[in-house]
Amino acid sequence: MRKIALVTGGSRGIGKAIVDVLSEVFDVYYTYHSASSEAAKIESEFIHPLKADSHDYEAIQRVVAEIVQHGTISILINNAGITKDKTCRKMTKNEWDDVISINLNAAFYYSQACLQPMIDGGWGRIVNISSIIGLTGGFGQSNYAAAKAGLIGFSKSLAMELAIKNITVNAISPGYVETHMTKQIPESIKTSLLEKIPMRRFGTTSEVASLVRYLVSEDSSYITGQVFCVSGGL
Ligand SMILES: NC(=O)c1ccc[n+]([C@@H]2O[C@H](COP(=O)([O-])OP(=O)(O)OC[C@H]3O[C@@H](n4cnc5c(N)ncnc54)[C@H](OP(=O)(O)O)[C@@H]3O)[C@@H](O)[C@H]2O)c1
Repeated sequence: MRKIALVTGGSRGIGKAIVDVLSEVFDVYYTYHSASSEAAKIESEFIHPLKADSHDYEAIQRVVAEIVQHGTISILINNAGITKDKTCRKMTKNEWDDVISINLNAAFYYSQACLQPMIDGGWGRIVNISSIIGLTGGFGQSNYAAAKAGLIGFSKSLAMELAIKNITVNAISPGYVETHMTKQIPESIKTSLLEKIPMRRFGTTSEVASLVRYLVSEDSSYITGQVFCVSGGL
């Protein structure tokens, strides 16, 4: 029987590439939130979409309980994320709270909900999708940088707690990847970003998904509490 994987925010971008790659080997459940993702959702023998707003603690508990009826969640990829960029001086409380809620709080909610069954199953993999901005900071991104740096601290701490349980926890920090999220970057800023990236290009979603595939495999069994940049040399 296939192991079960849960990918948050698997409807598009990096999450979708992760769903595609993992569905070759695992039974994959993914969450989404928006009406456009509802309309475009992909369902197949090994891919199961579930609607759940990452802001909503109760919805997260419901989703995990629903999946657990089919078996233990062995692999959790905390991927769902948003940006609401503004300088700290102009940022509203809602813009701060929303970004922390989706990028950081939800990772804690999902991880905690999956933990006991994963421990009982005696094997697990958690991968948290952070960002290079969590390591470097970003102009107009204090909320996002704080959430993504928090996710790194969370991953390292959880890794220590779960190492003895045969569960690894790692973080991936992508640089700039071609997705809906980076489409919002104005062209002039994109040009100056490209000049700073040693490989002079944005990454692809599959370049991030390949690393996820490795980190959830048996081959990565002695790797935990680490942060991996997929960033073209940034
Ligand atoms: N793209 C980059 O350059 C880049 C770089 C570094 C890190 N990252 C990180 O990589 C992850 C994926 O980013 P991406 O570029 O693939 O973004 P994206 O294309 O905008 O996709 C975001 C995903 O998150 C889901 N999501 C957003 N709000 C949600 C909510 N309230 N509840 C549940 N799901 C929600 C979206 O689903 P719905 O549309 O259905 O809500 C979608 O599946 C994020 O954590 C991001 O911070 C991206």
